[in-house]
Amino acid sequence: MTKMPQEPTLDATAQLLRDPYRYIATRCRRFGADAFRTRLLLRPTICMSGPDAAALFYDEARFERQGAMPEPVRATLLGKGGVQGLDDEEHRHRKALFVSLMTQDRVAALGARFGEELAVAATRWRSRSGIVLYDALHEPLTRAVCAWAGVPLAETEVRRRTRQLVAMFDAAASIGPRHLRSRLARRRAERWLSRLIRDARGGRIETPLGSALGEIAAHRDLRGQPLPPRIAAVELLNVLRPTVAVAVFITFAAHALHLHPELRVRFRAGDDTDLDAFVQEVRRFYPFFPAVAARVRAAFTWRGMHFPKGRRAMLDLFGTDRDARTWSEPHEFRPERFQDEDGGAFGFIPQGGGEVRIHHRCPGEPVTTELMKVAVRFLSAKIIYDVPEQDLGIAWSRLPALPHSRMIIRDVRTAATDPRHIL
Ligand code: HEM
Repeated sequence: MTKMPQEPTLDATAQLLRDPYRYIATRCRRFGADAFRTRLLLRPTICMSGPDAAALFYDEARFERQGAMPEPVRATLLGKGGVQGLDDEEHRHRKALFVSLMTQDRVAALGARFGEELAVAATRWRSRSGIVLYDALHEPLTRAVCAWAGVPLAETEVRRRTRQLVAMFDAAASIGPRHLRSRLARRRAERWLSRLIRDARGGRIETPLGSALGEIAAHRDLRGQPLPPRIAAVELLNVLRPTVAVAVFITFAAHALHLHPELRVRFRAGDDTDLDAFVQEVRRFYPFFPAVAARVRAAFTWRGMHFPKGRRAMLDLFGTDRDARTWSEPHEFRPERFQDEDGGAFGFIPQGGGEVRIHHRCPGEPVTTELMKVAVRFLSAKIIYDVPEQDLGIAWSRLPALPHSRMIIRDVRTAATDPRHIL
């Protein structure tokens, strides 16, 4: 039997945190294997990278999710009792709830609402000397997704709720006070949404048909029982939080538009075929979600390497998206690659792999791409702005990674009224 390569270290958590996006792929390359053993957070862990490893990771006979995510991640980013930690029939049943929220019409409605919120926000951006785009996107996204999900949001609450939703994904992986802020934000947001679930069930607030609040409040588990309010709140947050997190991809889209101004000119002309390829390439090329975790369900051997029952495994998403076995010139930003390649279900996995209804693949991909397209059209055709001197290098050790400057734009004008608008 080939032995699985082992990283010669007592615990590699520090190395992982120093370079979370490239940690797995660099070692796989060094070992000449798609899997290796190490210790993370003091637990033996198998790290895996590449399309074949991804296909293996999503084989439900071999891996399960229950108990796989470390507690700090469940206490901040994910919550406890949500769809991410379920397996088999229970998972598929809960997952269908999310998939049912993402019909084409509903996704388009969210996109339209986000476009309106951006237009309103831009009227304020015009009077300010400089805008940190990443930060400025959070509020329009929060307003749009709450309205879309049927979650009432009083004007006086907007800033507080936006801060809470952002803290759950932006501060989760920090250490010290920022991490504690993320935990606290989750506790408060879960309390807020548990109340709302009870109000919806008690008929004290109206829930529009097909809205996330209405559907989650009415959802029945496999035994015909409604979800406990706190778990329903976790699931509602599984819609609100990641939608606001699309700010990360939009910030990178603005980064790419700045570095490839010729693309911006094309989008200004309204070429939607190119827009789709651009958005996909932003999701492939830029770092966001580094890896996902599971546990070995039953011992097995793969390529002569032993996977013991119960062992935690981590699949490298970012490295797989840049794997040279799937992509030509993987480290180049080339949207046109999507004209004739799509990476397949296990080669293009920025939001997980496999089949959305069956596996743990993200159900929010249609929402993500729609919001990105709305934002790219907005940044290309609806406003004009300058990009001042700033540090646009990527902060690779941050989670989620971002340009160091978080993308500053200046001198924002609305395209239609600007005399310098050349189209
Ligand atoms: C912002 C961009 C997003 C990224 C980078 C992202 C990434 C991911 C990843 C990596 C997973 C885990 C896949 C796995 O465990 O195998 C996931 C799962 C999930 N995502 Fe997203 N996501 C995004 C947006 C969204 C949106 C907009 C929604 C909902 C509106 C959403 C809802 C979910 C849910 C509910 C799951 C759990 C699925 C399951 O366990 O079956 N995500 N996402």
